[in-house]
Amino acid sequence: MKALQGRFETAVTLATEAGALAMQMRGAGTVTLKGPQDWVTEADGAVERFISARLAAAFPSDGFQGEEGGVARGGSLRWIVDPIDGTANYMRGSPRFCVSLACFEDRTPLIGVLVAPALGETYVAHQGGGAMLNGRPIRAADTTALDRCVVEVGWSHRRPNPDFLSLCEGILAQGARLRLGGSGALGLADVASGRLDAYVELHINLWDVAAALVLLAESGAAVSPFLEGNGPTEGNPILACAPDIAPALSGLTGFAAR
Ligand code: IPD
Repeated sequence: MKALQGRFETAVTLATEAGALAMQMRGAGTVTLKGPQDWVTEADGAVERFISARLAAAFPSDGFQGEEGGVARGGSLRWIVDPIDGTANYMRGSPRFCVSLACFEDRTPLIGVLVAPALGETYVAHQGGGAMLNGRPIRAADTTALDRCVVEVGWSHRRPNPDFLSLCEGILAQGARLRLGGSGALGLADVASGRLDAYVELHINLWDVAAALVLLAESGAAVSPFLEGNGPTEGNPILACAPDIAPALSGLTGFAAR
């Protein structure tokens, strides 16, 4: 645990500094499209390089994978980083974006830190240590009925719009209210803190969910098995929700959350 404690403290410091860098760079530099509605700013690359260099200096034998640069270094203890999750919000001046930093041992998520600098929010969790938002413990909601729920449905160009629309229709038919927030990591963190009853997306990538998986596990939320199969390399669907609505939402979406 001593080794993990050092990594946990480093993760919180680095994600905080990375969030400050993202704030400084907002509005400067170029913005380009990687694919349909898939934006990348100069800050995405700069923040990822900053975190990668600092981790390489602190823990030279650890692996590193980032959204923008892919797998830079291998290792059984490895860091997974989304430098800015919610880039489409970030580039428009919306506060709903975050830096996401996670440490895994092979497929086991150990440490998760999300810093949303424009919201003034820091989520932290490590395996067995609970999950916290700005220093206070968080828990998933105790919601029991779908017709009392708010559900966020994540959207990307990676799955066909008719599939997205039929997922939304199925959820609406149960009387739930829908929301789209533009940051998968923060949507999942909202499930961990009980601000949101469920988050579902037909396909999402490892860097978007890595830190949030630790928050969700430590907050008592139910989560579908994102890390099974090719999830770590190719991405997977995700359903994360308050535990008592997991059976109903798992049946509805086909993604078994436990
Ligand atoms: C995206 C956001 C979005 C989610 C997508 C992600 P990015 O990440 O988290 O909310 O629906 O699946 O790709 O591009 O902002 O890092």
